[in-house]
Order: sequence, then C-alpha cells, then structure tokens
Amino acid sequence: MNKDWTGNSNSIYKTLGASNHTDKHRQQQDYYATEPKAVELLLEVEQFNKSVWEPACGEGHIAEVFVKHGYNVRASDLIDRGYGEQQDFLFFNDEHWEGDIVTNPPYARAVDFVNKALDIIPDGNKVAMFLKIQFLEGKERKGLYKNHPPKIIYVSSSRLLCAKNAEFEKMIEGGGSAVAYAWFIWQKGYKGETVIKWIN
Ligand SMILES: C[S@@+](CC[C@H](N)C(=O)[O-])C[C@H]1O[C@@H](n2cnc3c(N)ncnc32)[C@H](O)[C@@H]1O
Repeated sequence: MNKDWTGNSNSIYKTLGASNHTDKHRQQQDYYATEPKAVELLLEVEQFNKSVWEPACGEGHIAEVFVKHGYNVRASDLIDRGYGEQQDFLFFNDEHWEGDIVTNPPYARAVDFVNKALDIIPDGNKVAMFLKIQFLEGKERKGLYKNHPPKIIYVSSSRLLCAKNAEFEKMIEGGGSAVAYAWFIWQKGYKGETVIKWIN
C-alpha cells in the first residue's frame, strides 16, 4: 500500500474492480484512467524534476508510478475520487509551481490544461501529457503548437490503454482499445522543431 502526497493510503490496484465510488460519480468529468505501464515507459526515456504535480489525478494511476520511482508527487483532481486533493486545475489561486507537471487531462480541456501548466512553471521545466495521437490535428491546437512546440512526442508502437472508469479488465475482455495515445512533452521556452520518437 502506498501513500499519496497528502499521506492518504491508496493502492492503484483497488481501482481494478474494487473502488468504493459509485459508477455515476466516477463517470463524471471524462474519467479515463491511464495504464501504469504507459508511465513506466515514459520514465525509461524522460527524467523529471524531483517535484511533480499530477493535476487531474483521477485515482492516481499516473501519480502512483511517480511515487514508486521516488518523486515527490502532488496530486489533485476536480472530482474527489479518493486520491489527492480536490482542486479545479483551471481555476485556482496559486499561480506558480516550481516542479514539473504530468497528467492525462480531460481531453475536451486538454489545450487549456497545457496552456495553464506552461503558464505556472518556470522556464526550462517540463509538462508531459498523455493524449490521443489525434491531438496533433485541429485549428486550435495548431495555434498551441505555434506558440508552444512540444519538444518530443513519444509514440507507442504497441497500444497503451486508457480505461473508462478504470475498468481495464472490461476493456481487455472487449478486445482492447481503438484509440492510440502518445506522450507529448513540452519544455517551457523551447522553440525548436518537435522530435518524434517511438517507445514500447
Ligand atoms: C482522462 S481522466 C485521467 C485521470 C488520471 N490523470 C489518469 O491518467 O489516470 C481526466 C481527469 O481529469 C479530471 N478533471 C476534469 N476537469 C478537471 C479540472 N478542471 N481540474 C482538475 N481535474 C479535472 C477528471 O475528474 C478526471 O479524473
């Protein structure tokens, strides 16, 4: 059993069928949990600041892997899913975070999450977002990439999963996922070309 950054005891594996939250509650606000393997793969290729904030933490599937690797992890989510603190990342008063920011954000607000994250960290710090590969296209995103080109995009050669309401077993039984994901890495202030690399 691990402890989250607030000291609460939580196991990411409790989510695989044993959550104490109702389905209705858990479905709120675009809840898709990230397969922890995706985070392990990221940590094989990227190093982060010792302090990392997961600002849309869900039940801690990303945060717990960082904890396991020795990072100091702050975790928060708009919805109280039994992990971290309850906080709206897009509307809060603290305007600065001295560490890096890593999350799989609510997809519909992903551009806002990237902009907000880049706004509140120092130059040189990183933002890592686990996003659908389709996040590459779109007019609003073109504007984002013009202002803030990602430094690296890690495409997974084998499919990584994001499970609605963390129901990974149901997803696997149903034949897996039709959606491809990638890690998008921004380093604040970077203005060069975006490099694509393959993992997994
Ligand atoms: C796609 S899920 C990802 C959960 C977790 N990051 C993971 O990868 O397992 C997106 C999460 O964003 C949360 N969320 C939605 N809007 C938010 C906001 N404005 N501020 C903070 N969290 C938000 C949802 O409650 C949900 O838990």
